[in-house]
Amino acid sequence: MKNKTQKRIGLLTSGGDSSGMNACIRAVVRTAVFQGHRIYGIYKGYQGLLDNLIKEMSPRNVGGIINTGGTILQTSRCKEFFTASGRKRAFENMKQHGINALIVIGGDGSFHGLHKMIKEFRIQGIGLPGTIDNDLYGTDFTIGFDTAINTAMEAIDKIRDTATSHSRLFIVEVMGRDSGYLAQYCGIAGGAEDILIPEKKDDIRKIAQKLEAGFHKGKKSSILVVSEGDETGNAFEIKEQIRKLVDWEIRVSILGHIQRGGSPSAVDRFLATRMGFESVIAVNEGRTDKMVGIVNNQIKLTPLEQTWTRKKKIDLAFYKMIDALSI
Ligand code: F6P
Repeated sequence: MKNKTQKRIGLLTSGGDSSGMNACIRAVVRTAVFQGHRIYGIYKGYQGLLDNLIKEMSPRNVGGIINTGGTILQTSRCKEFFTASGRKRAFENMKQHGINALIVIGGDGSFHGLHKMIKEFRIQGIGLPGTIDNDLYGTDFTIGFDTAINTAMEAIDKIRDTATSHSRLFIVEVMGRDSGYLAQYCGIAGGAEDILIPEKKDDIRKIAQKLEAGFHKGKKSSILVVSEGDETGNAFEIKEQIRKLVDWEIRVSILGHIQRGGSPSAVDRFLATRMGFESVIAVNEGRTDKMVGIVNNQIKLTPLEQTWTRKKKIDLAFYKMIDALSI
């Protein structure tokens, strides 16, 4: 046994799933057992904590999952957990299993819930950033982001084939909630003519002029990537605005939930494994109310509250690059 104080750690995934969550679960379970703790899988996120869907896990339960998408623990968006009575019930179930620490893989909504549990019941809690949106302060990248941008990029590549065959403009809508990271990365990697994100006000007239100029300069296709949270509107609304200003025939493609699934990339498996391991080390060290992140390739623990009160800023300087490359 590597650690003097044995703990009973509960592990759950919460909110939207992301590729790499399973690799993270594997790392947490095996590190916890290696360190002499007992580890309990909580199924279906916070809903499972309320419904007592809790089972002790062993290293063998997490074999053959490092390469799989989704989450073997399943997940949910649980409204009841945001009520005081719901959290009380959750705590009673934790007590029944002797669980004194929680590790939660999810986004800022999930961390809100964990923060409340820590404050109300003095449990130990550590968050791990699992979301395709990459919108969490305190880490350069979140688990699932790399796989999602690769999936979106591959979809854009395929769309460009048909767009070029038909000389069409495609408006491709990607996920990301209120954050433009996903759009920024897959848009640049997919060679998009422009990228519309919530962090930047769109000038539809200017975009249309650029697209129209491209058409007259002999471009065979054009791609606009739109983040789902963009303030100008969704892909269909943007299509209506642009349609009046350009000669291109336009089609819309909404990539949707395919961005959340699939076998995780090597980068996501590595990130998930490293963060999962470090979350157990944080528990060993008595750390609580923190998210494990990686900043400049160094492990960093950030107070959970900062992950939603502070904003990870997107660097808008990349638009200069898009202007240069989309001529
Ligand atoms: O937060 C991850 C995410 O995939 C967002 O990009 C998207 O807005 C949302 O979840 C979709 O949620 P749901 O699967 O509940 O529709």
